[in-house]
Amino acid sequence: MTRQQHFGWFLARGFGPQGWGYPSLDWDYDWTRPEIYQDAARTLEQAGFDLVIIEDAPSLGSPETIDLRVRHAFGGPKHDPMLLAPYLFQATRHLGVVPTVNPAAYVPYTAARQFATLQHLSAHRLGLNVVTDTGSARHFSAAAPLGHDEAYDRAEEWLDGIRLLWRSWDHGALVADRATDVYADGSKLRAVQHRGEYFAFDGPLNAIPFPHGEPAIVSPGGSGRGLGFAGANSDVQLALAPLNERSVRDYRAKIHDAAVAAGRSAADIKILFAIQPVITASAEDADRIVAASAHPDDAALVQIARKQSSDLETDLTSLDLDKPLDPSVFGAHVSRGSIQRLIGDRGDDAPLRAHLTALARAGRIADRSGFVGTAEEFADLIDELGDWGNDGVLLWGDFHPVTLHRTLDELVPVLRRRGILRREYVDGGLQANLRAF
Ligand SMILES: Cc1cc2nc3c(=O)[nH]c(=O)nc-3n(C[C@H](O)[C@H](O)[C@H](O)COP(=O)(O)O)c2cc1C
Repeated sequence: MTRQQHFGWFLARGFGPQGWGYPSLDWDYDWTRPEIYQDAARTLEQAGFDLVIIEDAPSLGSPETIDLRVRHAFGGPKHDPMLLAPYLFQATRHLGVVPTVNPAAYVPYTAARQFATLQHLSAHRLGLNVVTDTGSARHFSAAAPLGHDEAYDRAEEWLDGIRLLWRSWDHGALVADRATDVYADGSKLRAVQHRGEYFAFDGPLNAIPFPHGEPAIVSPGGSGRGLGFAGANSDVQLALAPLNERSVRDYRAKIHDAAVAAGRSAADIKILFAIQPVITASAEDADRIVAASAHPDDAALVQIARKQSSDLETDLTSLDLDKPLDPSVFGAHVSRGSIQRLIGDRGDDAPLRAHLTALARAGRIADRSGFVGTAEEFADLIDELGDWGNDGVLLWGDFHPVTLHRTLDELVPVLRRRGILRREYVDGGLQANLRAF
């Protein structure tokens, strides 16, 4: 039985020079101007997407490795997605827009007021992708960065505080009655006094309440603590996990258990699994791409090495492709999990070329070995996810028109014909559309 699902797009390199290094940028798109993002937002709305999420990191990373991060623009620069959001709202009528936000960067009162303002300006289409990365801590305070779980504790206190402020206007506080000439009843505004572990502030908030609900909370953390945070707090969880039945069902059960433990219902949270498909015109094209990916040329490997060098804050581009990769090149600052993802089970003797070639290798959707395939094959996969109770899918990529059209032109009609993708929106903004099915 086909199940209708929600669709999101993750702008994976954030509000930055996302196309750098790719010839398609020679169309003279200016990443600092709103037009390319507005065009993409209109396309996604026409396609029936619920939301677009804009990746972000406020920092260029540690001082020693900044050059690695900016040289090919994988790690920065990035402008502030919160300030891009109004331009996308103005270009669209229904699409939800979800900038990434780190609680380290905004004190709760400022956050509550700015988010409230955007929620009203957008007719209830704001979402917030709450991340807990502590790599940017030094830009906001001289204190030592928090540990992994403490950063989640702070995020929960931050969100609780913001919600207290959003709810500081009781029912009936906003009167707006011309007959009595009363705009608001001050006796119905709560003082709010918060004295917590990480934040201390007073209310009430200098912004009016929301007639159609609060901004949607989105979260991407995949650790046990991250899933707990999502269950307790989020309207949408961005999930990265293998797309087999057991993994999808297990992931969903963990979030749902956490939601119920926090007094919510499993239906309160939509889980979108992240996928970056390569949609081809024919099965033969897909076979060709997959076969070629097993033998990448050196230029392709160098491009992968550049991205890895930025992500791992370690220069892989100056290493000999045909010598074994010595794990001691990675400093203590690099996460062991990230190194493991590069090296896999190939062992210390394997040359760098083998690791990069493994990252280049693509697989076919049809045999579930990867994500290259036709629109029909991809729709089969999404249909199957629906059979396992899935709520939706997060497609992943840049905002270049070529990327969007290559991915969506054939796929959208196929998904609509099958009844998987919405044809129209309901009124009421992002939350209303997330709850529509
Ligand atoms: C789909 C997806 C999107 C993410 N987007 C961001 C982002 O924009 N900014 C960021 O700092 N971290 C981002 N992350 C990383 C997570 O926020 C988090 O830092 C990471 O998953 C570690 O948390 P965890 O230990 O709970 O998994 C993203 C992760 C996923 C899976």
